[in-house]
Amino acid sequence: MNVDGFETLAIHAGQEPDPLTGAVVPPIYQVSTYKQDGVGHPRGGGGEGPGRWIDGYEYSRTANPTRGALEECLAALEGGIRAFAFASGMAAEDCLLRVLCRPGDHVLIPGDAYGGTFRLVDKVFRAWGVSHLSVPMSQPAAVRSALQDKRARVVWVETPTNPLLSVADITALADIVHEAGALLVVDNTFASPYLQQPLALGADVVVHSTTKYIGGHSDVVGGALVVADAGLAENIAFAQNATGAAGGPFDAWLTLRGIRTLGVRMDRHCQNAQRVADMLAKHPKVAEVFYPGLAAHPGHEVAAKQMRGFGGIVSFRPLGGEAEAVAICGRTRLFTLGESLGGVESLIEHPGRMTHASAAGSPLEVPLDLVRLSVGIETGEDLLEDLRSALG
Ligand SMILES: Cc1ncc(COP(=O)(O)O)c(C=O)c1O
Repeated sequence: MNVDGFETLAIHAGQEPDPLTGAVVPPIYQVSTYKQDGVGHPRGGGGEGPGRWIDGYEYSRTANPTRGALEECLAALEGGIRAFAFASGMAAEDCLLRVLCRPGDHVLIPGDAYGGTFRLVDKVFRAWGVSHLSVPMSQPAAVRSALQDKRARVVWVETPTNPLLSVADITALADIVHEAGALLVVDNTFASPYLQQPLALGADVVVHSTTKYIGGHSDVVGGALVVADAGLAENIAFAQNATGAAGGPFDAWLTLRGIRTLGVRMDRHCQNAQRVADMLAKHPKVAEVFYPGLAAHPGHEVAAKQMRGFGGIVSFRPLGGEAEAVAICGRTRLFTLGESLGGVESLIEHPGRMTHASAAGSPLEVPLDLVRLSVGIETGEDLLEDLRSALG
């Protein structure tokens, strides 16, 4: 059993000094293929580190040492046995659903989730005979009843959700989902493994857009799956190689560089986001604030139980409706108008017209007067001042 703490694992897991040169960070193995010592005798593989899953390096779609280092670190941080790094969060989600579902299967999805996840299930998997139903995951009784009505293969949870920050009780859902013979998948992108570890709470698979907090610097797109079950790991390894959306070595290296500071970054994201949420909650021009760190948030107690902090995303509805929400997005100085989240710099966006446009007209449609903030790690007072001035 590993007894090292989170920050130690973030810096050391999968990142032993390079055996050849002693380089203290994993080199970028920017290589597609590897010399073999004889037919069927590739080099490397085995041992204790990232190579232990393979019999040697043959081809970088199948295994690459830099990607392996990232995967080893992600598995350690999420408390899983094995992790898989993909070219994007969506590539990870697509691979997972292909592993878990067959035509005729049914998936429960959240009533509020990343628009791209909804689009994948609704527009891609539906065409292959996988049906879905959206259920409010913050209400375990609703999930139980949906599972009684129709057997599901997968229950897909995001907590906190993008962009409305609803919170689902992972432990309570794990019991209900497992009783019904389904698998619980948790998209842990908003929390990051520093704030929440779904596998320890009973989830079967953790999904990440590593583009966000894990990478942390808005300079790389990537995704990951982490599992606790060896059989499932084998199936994902097969599918990752067979379908081919594995992450590249340079992307893996950048993501690993980000991971080393995940803990300290998340602490500051949480601190700044709490200050922003507190300020907005008292602001006369704000109608509603969504942040699990506010005592009035309906998921506050569950979040306090299962998370180490409440995260860096705050959404709000200004007075003045959609036109005012859009105008605010154009009036900030430090909050940059852009999609994505989780980087060190603060971002602002209008989910209805930007990240969640694909959910328009669906049960996952977001309020059109919603503004989403990814609160960065700049000086807190500067961020407050920027928002006060944008609100007018
Ligand atoms: C919660 C969540 N899951 C998954 C994704 C998809 O990840 P990617 O953009 O890396 O494909 C996103 C992207 O915004 C997200 O916010």
